[in-house]
Amino acid sequence: MSDIKTEIRKRRTFAIISHPDAGKTTLTEKFLLYGGVINTAGSVKGKATAKHAVSDWMEIEKERGISVTSSVLQFRYGGYCINILDTPGHQDFSEDTYRTLMAADSAVMVIDGSKGVEAQTRKLFKVCAMRHIPVFTFINKMDRDAKDTFDLLDDIEKELGIPTCPVNWPIGSGKEFKGVYDREKREVELFSDTRKGTSAGEVQTVSIDDGEVDALIGEEARALLTEEIELLDGASAEFDQDLVDKGELSPVFFGSALTNFGVETFLQHFLAMTTSPLPRMSDHGEIDPVEEKDFSAFVFKIQANMNKAHRDRIAFMRICSGEFDAGMTVYHVQGGKDVRLSQPQQMMASERKMIDKAYGGDIIGVFDPGIFSIGDTLTTSKEKFAYEGIPTFAPEHFARVRQVDTMKRKQFVKGINQIAQEGAIQIFQEYNTGMEEIIVGVVGVLQFDVLEYRLKNEYNVDIILENLPYEHIRWIENKEADLDHISGTSDMKKIKDLKGRPLLLFIHEWSIRMTQERNDGLVLSEFGRS
Ligand code: G4P
Repeated sequence: MSDIKTEIRKRRTFAIISHPDAGKTTLTEKFLLYGGVINTAGSVKGKATAKHAVSDWMEIEKERGISVTSSVLQFRYGGYCINILDTPGHQDFSEDTYRTLMAADSAVMVIDGSKGVEAQTRKLFKVCAMRHIPVFTFINKMDRDAKDTFDLLDDIEKELGIPTCPVNWPIGSGKEFKGVYDREKREVELFSDTRKGTSAGEVQTVSIDDGEVDALIGEEARALLTEEIELLDGASAEFDQDLVDKGELSPVFFGSALTNFGVETFLQHFLAMTTSPLPRMSDHGEIDPVEEKDFSAFVFKIQANMNKAHRDRIAFMRICSGEFDAGMTVYHVQGGKDVRLSQPQQMMASERKMIDKAYGGDIIGVFDPGIFSIGDTLTTSKEKFAYEGIPTFAPEHFARVRQVDTMKRKQFVKGINQIAQEGAIQIFQEYNTGMEEIIVGVVGVLQFDVLEYRLKNEYNVDIILENLPYEHIRWIENKEADLDHISGTSDMKKIKDLKGRPLLLFIHEWSIRMTQERNDGLVLSEFGRS
């Protein structure tokens, strides 16, 4: 038993979030370099292939039968077993990107030092904040001319509303970027040339009080560093592990993923500061990953297999407690019966690998004959508890769906419901008009293409999508709210979901606030609870 506990305590399961091009892929690759998984950076996930994959989704899906972007990388470093969850970005940004964050215990936020906080980072950060998970900031591309360091911190604090605490501080930027200063150790860490990031490189560590520092970084840089540290010590929040654990303080690190500068020191600090698998709430109270000896997991993502001949799917689950054995039989709480988890696999970049064992904190994919839904619980515990569901995230694009051939209503309804159950799209209906027309909402526009493609290929149904101008959706939290009497703005539309729950659509963001002001006590939410 203690072995299982030890295995779980070693786990560090986190997501890397960033705006496209901030350096998420490069940083992940460098973690693998230090983890000894690859010898030369770039050999696991060729940039060209990755970019191609996102821009040419269908070809790749057809070829491989699975999304190349849905990967979990597992490797070992410094006694830890690390699971990195990839959050799909670019054009394949979708609800799955958000759901992935539900399976992580913490997040690394990569920010481009020349750009600061960008749109996608803001959206992903909101989900982390909702879960109160620790968020660590890596300010990347310091080898290029970056914004003023204090301005960058200000930007994060103002844009995201989280205080920051720099753990280290950059020494110069652009061509002059030499290393970082470790505030706690009061040491300067200088990096050697890494042949454009292809080798791990060496680190020279010198105490700031050592007279040698002047010669090493130059008098000018030394003078500036001294001033900045003084200013920083007076102005920034102190490091507080409790606040970090609660997601109320973000430790900040500086570096360049491309040249490996500051990557390993970040990895080491981060692993020491981040959390082992966290407890999760269930209908039987909080389940501790180590105290609960039985296996338990929840499904956070369902990936349809594009192979037309086998309409099978893969359910990705986060193991929350206990040990997983290949082929084990577990109780599917929502389905009310025992199921055998077959073909368990882990994703390594674009490759799938069969596994025999996994532990709390790990992510596995299993064959799904079409019985699982997002948020479902699987367990061997006699208690048969169910984990708290996964919220529905606000779609930002909406379209009305029409069938070309109305005779195929049955296939159409079956197909669209199936695709919605997998969580690729959300479906809604007009509120109180009696019209049966379906409105589809998606987080990323690529999902419209996916819907069209899959209905045609798997269900032989042609559809026409008519884009709607709405960009914002809100769930009504208070059940007693009388939807018939809500006085909204002229751009507001009332709809309902499949469970009959009312929702509001808006074209403009300001209309949300105005509607709230006009209707005393109305509570609107960006997340739909199951
Ligand atoms: P993403 O996954 O967040 O989308 O970003 P990715 O790692 O793919 O990086 C985007 C671009 O930024 C890449 O350049 C990458 O080489 C570059 N990059 C990443 N980290 C750093 C860094 O620390 N410093 C500098 N200067 N550049 C960095 P690209 O030209 O799009 O691709 P490539 O042809 O160079 O591979």
